[in-house]
Amino acid sequence: MAGARGEFSSRFGFVMAAAGSAVGLGNIWGFPTQAASNGGAAFLLVYLVLAFGLAYPALMAELIIGRHAHANAARALGGLSPNRLLSGLGRGTGIIGLVVASLILSFYAIVAGWMIAFCLAAIAELLGLDAVADWLTGFGLARNLVFMLLFMALTIGIISEGVREGIERWSARLMPSLLFTLVVLAIYVLTLDGALEGLKVYLLPDFSAALTPGLIIAALGAAFFSLSLGVGTMLIYGSYVSDKENLPVLGGLVTLVDIGIAVLAGFLVLPAMYVALHNGVEIFAANGALLSEDTLIFTVLPELFATMGLPGMVVSVVFFFLMSIAALTSSISMLEVPVAYAIEEHGLSRRKGVVLIGGAIAAISTVILLDFGQLFGLVITVTTRYAQPLLGIVLCLYAGWVLNRNSLLMELQRGHPGAEHGLFWKIWPWYVRVVCPAVILAIFAQSVLG
Ligand code: PFF
Repeated sequence: MAGARGEFSSRFGFVMAAAGSAVGLGNIWGFPTQAASNGGAAFLLVYLVLAFGLAYPALMAELIIGRHAHANAARALGGLSPNRLLSGLGRGTGIIGLVVASLILSFYAIVAGWMIAFCLAAIAELLGLDAVADWLTGFGLARNLVFMLLFMALTIGIISEGVREGIERWSARLMPSLLFTLVVLAIYVLTLDGALEGLKVYLLPDFSAALTPGLIIAALGAAFFSLSLGVGTMLIYGSYVSDKENLPVLGGLVTLVDIGIAVLAGFLVLPAMYVALHNGVEIFAANGALLSEDTLIFTVLPELFATMGLPGMVVSVVFFFLMSIAALTSSISMLEVPVAYAIEEHGLSRRKGVVLIGGAIAAISTVILLDFGQLFGLVITVTTRYAQPLLGIVLCLYAGWVLNRNSLLMELQRGHPGAEHGLFWKIWPWYVRVVCPAVILAIFAQSVLG
């Protein structure tokens, strides 16, 4: 049965696809810029604790439920209990998750479109086409629409090819090139004057900035966003994993790759900011704080590249290409969530489902672009700060309390005979039952009350 609905062909394929979903704009843009303005290594430390302590167990909850059911999120969660109320709530959670995944994609596609536009702008500059480059880097409505649509078309194209030929094949191609480009760029930037200053800001902790409640909730949101949690992405990827695989190990690998790439991106973006400062590009606002995250990426870095002459233009092409790839391997995972639902619950063909849903999401992106000032920030806050962690709690509760203990143990024993004696089986069930929901709620309560 699993084969008929698609399955990853290998462990490597799954890890590349799931890490591809996890590694995205959140790692290369979000994490380094947040670390820069919030205490450097202190933010990194808080982030690491939350990522391993809360996000990894929540990731495992999704992977286990997904593989257990080999079905889309609504059916998987709805099928965990014969109790009508629990089953209905589970289904509802799956459906809310797919709506949130679609909304995340609707703003993500806009930002990813900017990345493609900036990559092409650098190529235009290399060719001496300055007017074209100006149009590409100006944030006009037409430019925004064209590149959002182009990015959605790429996402739709890959997802319509299915699990192996689309998701797995493209992730396995794009992820290694992403890692290679990131390492080469970071090494290059580290050799430039001023880079050391950025390295210091990144690696010397300032705890006064990192340990405030507002920041901890931001780091929690960032960790959940970075691991693509709560909305059913990892659940659906888990549903395409073969019964032979050892899930805790695979989930651990995905977490390590995700965090590793965020940390690595810090070695590129922070030094680059200070190289820019060294070259006379302003990175601080009048009040002494760092400029906003989007100004840093879309103004400071291009200005830096412009001060570097020809090598700068090449670096600019490569940097924005890297961002576009990272975004694409994430966006395909978001689109797969509602598409799998449409195929399995409403009998649509993959192609039809992908085009209809991808089209609807592009329409939402268009509405956001038309009222950008009001809608863009709102959609980001509601989906990533609130919906993702809150849905994550429900998924942990379902994995911990509703999935029956024998099925859970059976899932863990697949690919790992003797799992019942292992540390994971001793610790994790209590972790998702009590610790994860309680800590996530406490962090929320703290931010609302304080
Ligand atoms: N993890 C992606 C990133 O860090 O950019 C974003 C993301 C992907 C969020 C998939 C949610 C999701 F379902």
